Formats: sequence, C-alpha cells, structure tokens
Amino acid sequence: MIVVTTPTGQIGSRLVRRLLDQDREVRVIVRDASRLDDSVRERVETVVGSHDDPAVLDRALPGAEALFWLVPPNPQAPSAQAHYVHFARVAAAAVARHGVGHVVGVSSAGHGWPVPAGVLSAAFAMDAELSASGAAYRALSMPFYMENLLRQLDAIRGQGVFSLTCAGDRPLASIATRDIADTAAGLLAQPSWTGQENLPVFGPDRLTPDDMAEVISQELGRPVAYRRMGIDDYAALLRSQGAGDQAVKDLTEAFAAQDHGIYDADWATAEPTPTDFRTWCRDVLKPAADAHTP
Ligand SMILES: NC(=O)c1ccc[n+]([C@@H]2O[C@H](COP(=O)([O-])OP(=O)(O)OC[C@H]3O[C@@H](n4cnc5c(N)ncnc54)[C@H](OP(=O)(O)O)[C@@H]3O)[C@@H](O)[C@H]2O)c1
Repeated sequence: MIVVTTPTGQIGSRLVRRLLDQDREVRVIVRDASRLDDSVRERVETVVGSHDDPAVLDRALPGAEALFWLVPPNPQAPSAQAHYVHFARVAAAAVARHGVGHVVGVSSAGHGWPVPAGVLSAAFAMDAELSASGAAYRALSMPFYMENLLRQLDAIRGQGVFSLTCAGDRPLASIATRDIADTAAGLLAQPSWTGQENLPVFGPDRLTPDDMAEVISQELGRPVAYRRMGIDDYAALLRSQGAGDQAVKDLTEAFAAQDHGIYDADWATAEPTPTDFRTWCRDVLKPAADAHTP
C-alpha cells in the first residue's frame, strides 16, 4: 500500500494516476474527497482529513509500505519554518509509530546553503525531521517550477510580459511538475532504496529568463518579454497583497538565494528529467493561455 498526501495538487494528482497506471494499491489523504476525479476516487482508498492531524495519519498509515509527503504551501502561516516543521514532526512521529519503511518528500534544491533561504530553508528543516524518523527517505530537491508561470497568465496574455526577481541573462534552473510526480512514482513503486538522501530533480534546459521569453513567444505566437523585478518591488507587491513581515521575509530570502545560485550545486549533478521548457509551453502553457479569461 502506498499512501499519497495532496492527491488534488499539481504533483500529487499526477502521482496518483501514475501509480494507478501501474496497478499499485493507493490510499490518499484528502481534505475533500469530492475534489478527486471520479476515475481516481473509485480506485483508491480514501482517508478524509488534513495530513498534519496525527489521528488522520493513524487511519492512513497502517499497512503502508511507502508514503509520499508534501507540505502544502501556506502564505498565512506564522513562518515557513514553523509551518514545515509542524507538518514534518507530525509525519515523522506517525511514520515511526506505524513502521512505514519508505518516505518520499517534496523539498527544494540547495541543501547546505550557508545563509537563511526562507521557504527553502524551511523545506530543509522538514527533511531533517523526516530523515530522523527511521524510514528510508528521499528528499526530492527541485528548483523553480515551470508551473509558477501559470500565475502570470494575465500579464503574459495582456501585457506580453512575465516577471521574476532573477537576472534575465543568467540561466534559471527549472522543472515541470509532471517530472517530479513521475520521479516520485518510480521511487514509491520500487522501494528497494535505503538510507536518507537528497535527490536533485531538474529539467534538461539551461535557459535564461530572456531565453524563456523567446520560447514562450514562439510557442504562443505572440511577443512576450521578460521583465526583472527588484527584490524591494517584489516585497512591496507581496505587502500590497496582504502578506505579513515574516511571509515577505520567507519569500524574499528564497528568491535572493535563487538569484545567488542556491540551485547551482545540485544542478551540476542532477540527471536531467525529460520535459524541456518548450515541450512544457506546448503541452501546458499554451492550452492554459488559450483557455484563460482574465
Ligand atoms: N513552486 C516552486 O517553485 C517550488 C519549488 C520547490 C519546492 N516547492 C514545493 O512544492 C510544494 C507544492 O506542490 P504542488 O505545486 O503540487 O502543490 P499545489 O498544487 O499547490 O497543491 C497543494 C495541495 O495541498 C493541499 N492542501 C492545501 N492546504 C492544505 C492543508 N492545510 N492541509 C492539507 N492539505 C492541504 C491541497 O488540497 P485541497 O485544497 O484540495 O485540500 C492540494 O492538494 C510545496 O511544498 C512547495 O514548497 C515548490
């Protein structure tokens, strides 16, 4: 039995389908089962609740040989560190209680970065908790998700721009979430691995944001440019959207670390995953842009 958290999320939903394609027994932890696709709901066991609730994990983990663990983003949390460590401690205790042998967690690239990196450091703290649980553990270590660009469809379609805080002429490591799910599926379906390790999961490109803009323009058939946003402007934008001081710190530290090369060491050793940025634009961004109404 493989237990999957966040089965309605970008990574979790694809992961569940991949495991079912391989006829694996899957149990999902879900807050609202009506959000699962009908074709999934009828083929999985369902435990309803949030995976930061020990009682929910006590219903989900008996008989589990492997667990997929993802801490949901929560910009309202008092701090990213507190949020991740809370989820991770609940998980580690339940994994130990139920003798789950293998855990695959969604983390970030950049372990060992010497200065605080906000939400990325919070993910590293989660890994430390899960590594101490007694289970074999793989921390999937990713850079920037290509799907983050879907949040900018208004600007991409309206003004023909997208914005990040990183330099336009420096390669930006990226990953398609479907490749994360497929990597997790491979590990969970064949849990013969041992020990605790970070596993860098990176896409095959070495594109700068300016290069990405060119690919987007070609695939969407309209000009799209990259516009760099200063960290201070980004912080002001977050505040205007209601973010508190700690949330602003957690995000700006992470983007500053990204800009200063936090992903580079993992990028140098990662086995590239299949989905390149152009393929992602064709398969995901273009259909989303065509369907998007501002
Ligand atoms: N974006 C990046 O560039 C990047 C890079 C590295 C790592 N990451 C990490 O990737 C993860 C995000 O993965 P994703 O994109 O697959 O997530 P996602 O699509 O945003 O999905 C979030 C999932 O969490 C569930 N959820 C939300 N709040 C919850 C709560 N309080 N309790 C239980 N479940 C809750 C949602 O389910 P319902 O709402 O249906 O209940 C949904 O299934 C985060 O841990 C993030 O730190 C992101």
